[in-house]
Amino acid sequence: MTNSTKEPQKIYLKDYTPPTYRVDDIYLDIRIFDDHATVSGVLNMKREHDGALVLFGRELELLGISVNDKALTADEYSLDGESLTIHQAPDTAKVAIEVKITPQTNTALEGLYQSGAGDELMFVTQCEPEGFRKIIFFPDRPDVLTEYTTRVEADKRFSVLLANGNLIQQGDVGDDRHFAIWHDPTKKPSYLFACVVADLAVTSDHYTTSEGRDVLLEIYASPADIDKCHVAMTALKDAMAWDEERYGRAYDLDRYMIVATGQFNMGAMENKGLNIFNTSCVLSSPKTTTDERSFHVKAVIAHEYFHNWTGNRVTCRDWFQLCLKEGFTVFRDQSFSASHRSPAVQRIDDVSFLKAHQFKEDAGVLAHPVRPDSFVEINNFYTVTIYEKGAEIVRMIATLLGQDKFRQGTDEYFARYDGQAVTIEDFLSAMSVGDERVLDFLAWYTQPGTPVLSGGFEVVADGVELTFSQETRHVAGFDEPKALPIPIDVAIFHGENGQLLAQDLLLLTENSQSFSFDGLDLGGVRPVVSVLRNFSAPVKLVFDHTDEDLMKIVEFENEGFNQWQAVQALVGRLLFGKSDNITLLTDTLKRIVPTLMHKDPMLSARLFDVPSESELAVAYDENYKPQEVKATRTALKEQIAHALADHVQAWYDALPIVPYEDTPDARGVRLLRNVLLNLALTAKLDMTERAQYQYANASCMSEQLGALEAMIEFGLPNADDYTTQFYEEYHDDDLVIDQWFSVQAGADSRDVAFIKTLMERTDYDWQTPNRVRTTLGALANKPTQLWTKDGILLYLSALARLDVINPVLASRALSALARWYTLADDDKEMVKTELLALQQKVSSKNVLEFLNNMLEGRA
Ligand code: ARG
Ligand code: ZN
Repeated sequence: MTNSTKEPQKIYLKDYTPPTYRVDDIYLDIRIFDDHATVSGVLNMKREHDGALVLFGRELELLGISVNDKALTADEYSLDGESLTIHQAPDTAKVAIEVKITPQTNTALEGLYQSGAGDELMFVTQCEPEGFRKIIFFPDRPDVLTEYTTRVEADKRFSVLLANGNLIQQGDVGDDRHFAIWHDPTKKPSYLFACVVADLAVTSDHYTTSEGRDVLLEIYASPADIDKCHVAMTALKDAMAWDEERYGRAYDLDRYMIVATGQFNMGAMENKGLNIFNTSCVLSSPKTTTDERSFHVKAVIAHEYFHNWTGNRVTCRDWFQLCLKEGFTVFRDQSFSASHRSPAVQRIDDVSFLKAHQFKEDAGVLAHPVRPDSFVEINNFYTVTIYEKGAEIVRMIATLLGQDKFRQGTDEYFARYDGQAVTIEDFLSAMSVGDERVLDFLAWYTQPGTPVLSGGFEVVADGVELTFSQETRHVAGFDEPKALPIPIDVAIFHGENGQLLAQDLLLLTENSQSFSFDGLDLGGVRPVVSVLRNFSAPVKLVFDHTDEDLMKIVEFENEGFNQWQAVQALVGRLLFGKSDNITLLTDTLKRIVPTLMHKDPMLSARLFDVPSESELAVAYDENYKPQEVKATRTALKEQIAHALADHVQAWYDALPIVPYEDTPDARGVRLLRNVLLNLALTAKLDMTERAQYQYANASCMSEQLGALEAMIEFGLPNADDYTTQFYEEYHDDDLVIDQWFSVQAGADSRDVAFIKTLMERTDYDWQTPNRVRTTLGALANKPTQLWTKDGILLYLSALARLDVINPVLASRALSALARWYTLADDDKEMVKTELLALQQKVSSKNVLEFLNNMLEGRA
C-alpha cells in the first residue's frame, strides 16, 4: 500500500538530452547579511540545441531578472518551485538575476548554509549534486561547464572570504563590511562551486608540482583546532606526489584550500581548489583522535584531492554516471592508503566494509546497479554500491590489465576527456585501448546483485583442475542476470611444504568453466588451492575447501589478505553450523599469532575478527531472528576466547605502552592491544587493573578510548566514573564528545532506553549530523535492540524529525532498515506497521523514495 499523492517523480537515464544552452561564464555576487543573503548573477549563455531556456532554482526569492540588459516583464518568463523558464529567449543571452536566500535557516545543509553559532558561526556551501540551484537560478547539471568569477561580501567579523580559484581583488565597502573577488580559470560544473564566509584560523604550506608550479596549500579551521591540521597537510602533500607518480597527474591551480566545518552531511567535498570538509575528516591529533579516525583523515584528504582529475577535470555527463568519478576515486584513495600501511590490512578493511554494507544493500530492496537507470532523488544514490562496488569494478579492470596497461588506459582517459563531461562507456572505451576485454565490464555497471562464485578443484594426472560457476540473483525490475567477467587470482601450494607451485589470474566469463594447471609437482599430497586472492572480484565465494585446507592457506599464503579470508571462511562455517572445528581454528591462531604480532601486528589483530551481527544478517532472506544470530555469535566469540585464555594475557602484556608514534606498526600494536583486552575480558579474565592502567597511561586517544570502551562494555568497576571523567576532560571538543556518545550508545550493555536518554541531552544537537549519527549509527549496528518495538519507535521518531530538518541525513538513516522484511513474522509485522505510520508523517522526496521502495518491494 502506498500513498499515491506522495509518489514523487522518477527520472530516467534513457531520457537524457544535452543542454539547450551553454553558460560560457558567470559573475556571481554573494552578500551575507544578519538574517539573509542576496545573490546576483550574470550568466553569458549561448544556444546549443533547440528548446526552452530553463534555469533550475529552489527556495529562491526572485528580486529581478533581465535578458541582454532589458528587464523581463511577468509574461516573459514563468516560475514554479523548481525552475524558471525564459520565453522566446534569444540565442545569445546575457541573463542577469538577483535573488534573496536565507542561509541562516537552511538546516538541510545543501546550497549556502549557516554552520555553527557564536564564535564558530560561518557560512559554507555544499552544491553537489543539486545545491547550486538553492543559491541562484542556473542550468544546474554537471554537463554545463562555466568559468566563474565570484564576489563575496560580508561583515568584517568574518575575516575569511573564500571562493574557488585565485584571489584577484579584496577591499572594504564601508559599514564595517568587506569583500573579496575570486576567479577560477578552469571551466567547471556548478556542483563544484564553493564559497566560505567565516572567522577561521589558517595553516599554510607549499608544494611544487612536477610541472614546476608553486602551489599555496591552506587549511582553515577554528582557532581552537588549527593545531590539529598537521596530519591532513602531510597527507595532502603525499597525495599530490602520489598522483604525479602513479597517474602522471599534477595539480593545476596556484592555490589549494581546505575548510573544516562542524556541520556537514558527508565526509568532504572536492569543490575546485576549495575543498570543504567535515571536521571529523580533517582534524587529527594523537591526544584526541583514534588511529582509525586519523587514518581515515588521510584517506579522505587524498580522496578529495584525487577528484581534481577524476571528477573535476574529467566530470560526469549526468548524475547516473556518478560512479565514473566516485568509483574511480575510491579505488585511487584505497591504493594510496595501501601505500601507507600493510596492503593486506588495507584490503581487509575495504573488503570487510564492502561485505558488511554493500553486500547488504545489494541483497535488499534498495539494491541498484552501480550505474542506476532511474531515480527520484539523486541524493539517495550516494551509496556504498556506487562508491565501493564502483571502486571494485575499477580494481578488477586494473587487476586484469596489470600495471602498464592500466596506466596506458588512464593516460588515454585523461588525454581524451580532459575538460569534458563523460559517461561510463567513455571510460571503458579509453581503458580498453590495450585490451578489449575491458569493454565487457559494462555489465558490472548495469546489473545489480552480488554474484555467488562457487568452485572446487580436482587433482588430475599431473596437476589440478579447477571448476567455477557464477550465479547472480534476479533483482525485480531488471533483466535476467547474465554472466559477468570475474577475475579470479589463484595460487597453488604444495600440500606439505607449502612451496608455491603455480599462480595465475583466471577470467571466468561463462556461467560455468574449468581451468587446468598442468605439470605441477604435487608430491602425491593434496595441494593447497588459494582462490580469489586479494579479493580479485566483489563476489560471495563458496569453495569446497576442507577445514584443514583453509588452515593450510593460513599457514602457506604469502598474501595476508588470503590468510584473513581463510580464517573468515572457517569462522563463517563455525557460525552457520557447517563445522565444529574450533580447536583447529584456535590452534592455528596460537601457532601463527606470536610471530605475526611482531611482523604485522595489525594483520594479526584482524585474524580475531568475527563478522558483526549486522553483517551476519545479510545471510538471511527470511525468518531472520536477531537474538539467535547474536547468541550464536557471542557463543563462538566466547569459545575462541576461552580456548586462547592461557595466551591472551601474555600477548597483551608483551605489548607495553610506549610513547606515541604514527607508524603502521605502532598503530597495529595499539589495535592488537585493544583486541586482546576485549578477548581477555570475553574469556572472563581479570583485566580491570590493566584496563585502568592503559586508561591512565595512554599515550593517545586509541589507548584511552580502547580502555574506556572495554570498561563500559564489560561493566568493569567504576566504569561510570571513568565515563564522566572522560566527558569532563574533553567537554569542549565536539569530535571527542561524538566518540563519547558513540562508545556508550554502541555498548552491548546499554539498552534502547539508555540511548534515548543520550538523545534527550542538551548537547545532543539535531542540526549536527556527526552528533545524530553517533546514536542512530550505534542503534543500527545493534540488531537485537534496533528490531524491537522500543528500538524501532526511537529510530523512526528520530527519522520523522530529521525528515524536516535534514532529508539527506534522514534517508541515509532510513536505508539501514532496508532489509526489515527478512525478520521473522511478528517482528516483521510490527516494523511494517511502524513504517506505514512513518509514511503518513514524512514529506521529503529523499525519505519517500526509499520508504516507498521499501514498502512496495515487500507489500
Ligand atoms: N563528492 C563527495 C565525495 O565523495 C560527496 C558529496 C556528496 N554530497 C551529497 N550531498 N550527497 O567526495
Ligand atoms: Zn568522492
